[in-house]
Amino acid sequence: MKLVAATNNHNKVSEFRALLGETFDVVTMRDVGVAIEVDETETTFFGNALLKAKAVSEATGLAALADDSGLEVDALDDAPGVYSARYAGEPCDDAANNAKLLKELEGVSERTARFVSVVVLYRPDGSYEVGEGSVEGKILNAPRGTGGFGYDPLFFSTELKKTFGEASPAEKNAVSHRARAIADLSKKLS
Ligand code: IMP
Repeated sequence: MKLVAATNNHNKVSEFRALLGETFDVVTMRDVGVAIEVDETETTFFGNALLKAKAVSEATGLAALADDSGLEVDALDDAPGVYSARYAGEPCDDAANNAKLLKELEGVSERTARFVSVVVLYRPDGSYEVGEGSVEGKILNAPRGTGGFGYDPLFFSTELKKTFGEASPAEKNAVSHRARAIADLSKKLS
């Protein structure tokens, strides 16, 4: 079955393919000739994921998969949360977001955090399934590694004992919030 990845983030498309490629033919919006940018106007990960998956399914007539994800830092009352992508303002800028996070945590020793992901698979008949996942870690004082995207170089995974920026794609996919959300979704689909 064809599944359109409702994202313009190539890293996410690669992760979706690596995680769901055996069950679905994961295609991009570009593959099916659709270019839409959905504004994330909701205040929850679920709300935004549903918004994106529904819009792309309706535009393509195909099932669509969207993820909304972010970083929750305990010492910052779960910020940046749903605003992770534009923490340092628009346009989204990973380097500026990381710099702001380090600034906000200056002098803070309690640096526990988690990545959270909610995925929604929306079908053309209006039905949908939801999956949720998270991964625990802590925010370092300086970036480590050049892999991944977003906050990966600052996020030290408790399970991997290295940052997501230092992890290979396979290592990250073995523990990531998105992988767990997709596993949760897959369980509900079977
Ligand atoms: P979204 O595209 O609205 O889900 O934006 C999520 C934002 O959260 C991204 O722009 C990143 O800043 C951050 N984020 C989500 N997942 C990850 C990840 O796996 N690694 C690093 N940062 C992430």
